[in-house]
Amino acid sequence: MKWLVTGGAGFIGSCFVRTALTEGWADRIINVDKLTYAGNIENLEPIAHHPAYGFVQADICDADVMEELFAREAPDAVIHFAAESHVDRSIHSPAPAIYTNLNGTFTLLEAARRSKVARFVHVSTDEVYGSIEPPHEADENYPLRASSPYSASKAGSDLLALSYFTTYGLNVSVTRASNNYGPYQFPEKLIPLMISNALDDKPLPVYGDGQQIRDWLYVEDHCRAIRSVLEKGAPGEICNIGGNCSLPNLEVVRRILRATGKPETLITRVADRPGHDRRYALSSAKLTRETGWEPAMSFDRGLEATVEWYRHNSQWIRHVKSGEYRQFYELNYSNRTV
Ligand code: NAD
Ligand code: DAU
Repeated sequence: MKWLVTGGAGFIGSCFVRTALTEGWADRIINVDKLTYAGNIENLEPIAHHPAYGFVQADICDADVMEELFAREAPDAVIHFAAESHVDRSIHSPAPAIYTNLNGTFTLLEAARRSKVARFVHVSTDEVYGSIEPPHEADENYPLRASSPYSASKAGSDLLALSYFTTYGLNVSVTRASNNYGPYQFPEKLIPLMISNALDDKPLPVYGDGQQIRDWLYVEDHCRAIRSVLEKGAPGEICNIGGNCSLPNLEVVRRILRATGKPETLITRVADRPGHDRRYALSSAKLTRETGWEPAMSFDRGLEATVEWYRHNSQWIRHVKSGEYRQFYELNYSNRTV
């Protein structure tokens, strides 16, 4: 089997590519990535010379390039991770999220339809369901109530992907996962940002009252779930993927401080995110029923492994915290002090 993976130099995509090649999930994997600020070729160092691995630097919104690539490579399946994935960036500057998440998905679906790709997995998010009042949790039929430009662009791309099944019979699955964490995550997201700041004895900026709830999923568990959907998912269906670990942000930050051995005085309350979703909660019962998948990593073990990885990869952190990172950090946090 030949798989075309988009966004394979990012956090989750690179975990998928590394794991798939190491464990022999496919005969060949072509990774298509534009290498935006979030894409990092260093994330693929462990498998860079694997004989089954190929890399193409390209923008998924470029229809001519995608058309030519699909014709040349004739992949058996597409696993589509590439996206602008950060909510705060989509709030400060929505255009890149709309461009890549909507146009890029459209371009790939078109290329897949024309070249008659047998399988297409569109990797999406639980954010499309919006904030959910306790004790409810979203199943796959829950209404879409996206709050940010990021989540709205993902909701739109989900509908577009499903329409290619209904209209053209393209064998599409949509996965909706909860918050991922683990090694190689860009330090703009809650867990890697807090770990990296704690290791540097810098303030840990908690938005609002810190009581917002997220469901935490270890990245390798997510990648195994995607493989299950790819191989066993029914055409035209949505599958939720949750970590079964709901925690308020403040509790996550406290556990990070304990794991890094740093004091709680580093916690700094800052102004809230506009339109901040209070609680995400989703049921993965369908995925477990249909494929047998369940998350294997407990949060405490996963967090410990993640902290250890960041502790031992200070050079990776230094590289990704380039000038661009500092600019965004300034923009995002300078006006938040409360
Ligand atoms: P990421 O930001 O770490 O990586 C995104 C990758 O996509 C990068 O390598 C980047 O270079 C590439 N990319 C961006 N625009 C591109 C373009 N126009 N053409 C080609 N490549 C492009 O993202 P992530 O956290 O690994 O998320 C991957 C996918 O999973 C996204 O679709 C995201 O919506 C979804 N998701 C993420 C989470 C999470 O917690 N991080 C949870 C659920 C779903
Ligand atoms: O739920 C899945 C989604 O999880 C994915 O679709 C997104 O790609 C991914 O970025 C993530 O979105 P969130 O907005 O939930 O993740 P983030 O890490 O940005 O924030 C997690 C929570 O922590 C959220 O309630 C905001 C809060 N937060 C975040 C940052 C960066 C803070 O309190 N302080 C911070 O500095």
